[in-house]
Amino acid sequence: MKKKYLVTSALLYSNGTLHFGHLAGAYLPADCFSRAMRLEKHDVLYISGSDEYGVAITLSAEKAKKTPKEHSDLFHKENKELFEKLNFSFDHYSRTTWEGHIKPTQTFFSELLENGYIEEKVTEQLFSEEDQRFLADRYVEGICPKCGAKEARGDECIVCGASYEATDLISPKSKLTGSDLVKKPTTNWFMRFDLFKEKLTSWLSKKDWKPNVVNFVQSYIEDLKPRAITRDSDWGVKIPLENTEGKVLYVWFDAPIGYISATQEWAKLNKDPTAWERYWLDPETRLVNFIGKDNIPFHAIFFPAMCMGQNTPYKLVDDIPANEFLNLEGKQFSKSAGWTIDIHQFLKDFDVDQIRYYLAANAPETSDAEFSWKEFQTKCNTELVGKFGNLVNRTFVFSKKHCDLTVSSPSEEEDVDRNFIKDIKQLTEDYRKAVSQYRLRKAVQIFMEMCQIGNVYFDHKKPWVDAKELSSVPRMKTTIYHLLDCLRHLSIVAYPVMPKTAEKLFNMLGFKEDLLTYGFEGLNSELLPLQKLLAPEILFKKLEDDLIEKHHQELLSGSKIS
Ligand code: 2FM
Ligand code: ZN
Repeated sequence: MKKKYLVTSALLYSNGTLHFGHLAGAYLPADCFSRAMRLEKHDVLYISGSDEYGVAITLSAEKAKKTPKEHSDLFHKENKELFEKLNFSFDHYSRTTWEGHIKPTQTFFSELLENGYIEEKVTEQLFSEEDQRFLADRYVEGICPKCGAKEARGDECIVCGASYEATDLISPKSKLTGSDLVKKPTTNWFMRFDLFKEKLTSWLSKKDWKPNVVNFVQSYIEDLKPRAITRDSDWGVKIPLENTEGKVLYVWFDAPIGYISATQEWAKLNKDPTAWERYWLDPETRLVNFIGKDNIPFHAIFFPAMCMGQNTPYKLVDDIPANEFLNLEGKQFSKSAGWTIDIHQFLKDFDVDQIRYYLAANAPETSDAEFSWKEFQTKCNTELVGKFGNLVNRTFVFSKKHCDLTVSSPSEEEDVDRNFIKDIKQLTEDYRKAVSQYRLRKAVQIFMEMCQIGNVYFDHKKPWVDAKELSSVPRMKTTIYHLLDCLRHLSIVAYPVMPKTAEKLFNMLGFKEDLLTYGFEGLNSELLPLQKLLAPEILFKKLEDDLIEKHHQELLSGSKIS
């Protein structure tokens, strides 16, 4: 039955350039899932964009001597372009500074306030007399109140592991100017998350989420407290109340509302302004938030509570496939430390589907994973070139030589032929199931298994021997027919992870229609049409040692980490 999916990838902070670590967690798995659901002919809307407010942006902009807007404009543009180069299939990539984001955000606030879920409170915060402003904890350092370590961060001490409020630091200072900070009372608004404990517990009890999400949420919910949802800053959505100049809504209050406003912007751009309601206001929609593990509380607890407390019946999240992190050669990706891979540079030397394949095969689904240049080379060469590319190439080259690139109907089918195609069909079903359960690594393994059994079948049937005897030519043509049928399945199954290569193969097989229109259901027809194949083209180049070595050395020499 046709379902409706609203798929989101966590909105990306527009304070830096996208790297493979981001891609592996919240982005590539979502793109592959969206593409697979489109192949199933479900109604899919895939949304993401830039998360532009908050201290992450202001701090980074100040360091770059830019205004937050200038800074964010730059990275929004760059990241949007990178996603295009990486062949992402967003229906819309929005941003939280678009004007239509303000109204829904302020409406959430006003309704939550009116419904008694927000309260005003005066607390002490750190104030810089020099700058005449309050500083958020990321701007602050001082002496750890627990162990006395110097230059402890504003929220936790990396020496003893203690976490605290910035106001607990001894001799707090501004990280930007080094000036002393004083405590000063200020008014902020707090969301009473504690009032949602029962409602959330009962809602969550029906969820069959990944163990990492369920475990985290269960312990978190025990200790729900009111949390400040406003900040003393000029950069953010204004509080919809009188006399609140210099204060804005906290970035984690407005960011998830960005999923809604992004869908509204998509509808507006499509000249169908109410189209967003078909997704957000339909209880039958399946809302799937792809995120990194650090975002779990905001998607599983805080935003659902915010939705429960306001007045519009927005769809609550149905699934949260939260992924772990991807590291680079044993360390975290870090642009400031030079420990990263420039995607623009990367795509000059490598194919987009090589990186999509490697990151999907290596997706950090149940534990942190690793990008390693050596492993990237091995996977591309042994799997994409050695198994997939080899099967495609040898089948096409053989068809060209012996079958004039034409598909002939099979005759004289043997058990080996029937079993081969039965296995391919079964593996296709297994693949569909794995992808629908967000098991991308498993799906990629199944895809490779299909390539593997295709190569084994080719070797076993020895069509080159049959081609020599006129009487066995029908047997040879039967073999090629089944191999081409296997490639037809592979072209569809490859599509979520390697859309460009999948489309190339689908066209090489002589299909004129769009691959997505064909979909998984196209595979239900038992026979390939008697169509003409296109001349063979190489799908993937072998990655030579010197190229990989060059990139690996660039990483090592660019790194500021010893
Ligand atoms: O952690 C982050 O990178 C945030 N920018 C994610 C926001 S997700 C959503 F709620 F918008
Ligand atoms: Zn300490």
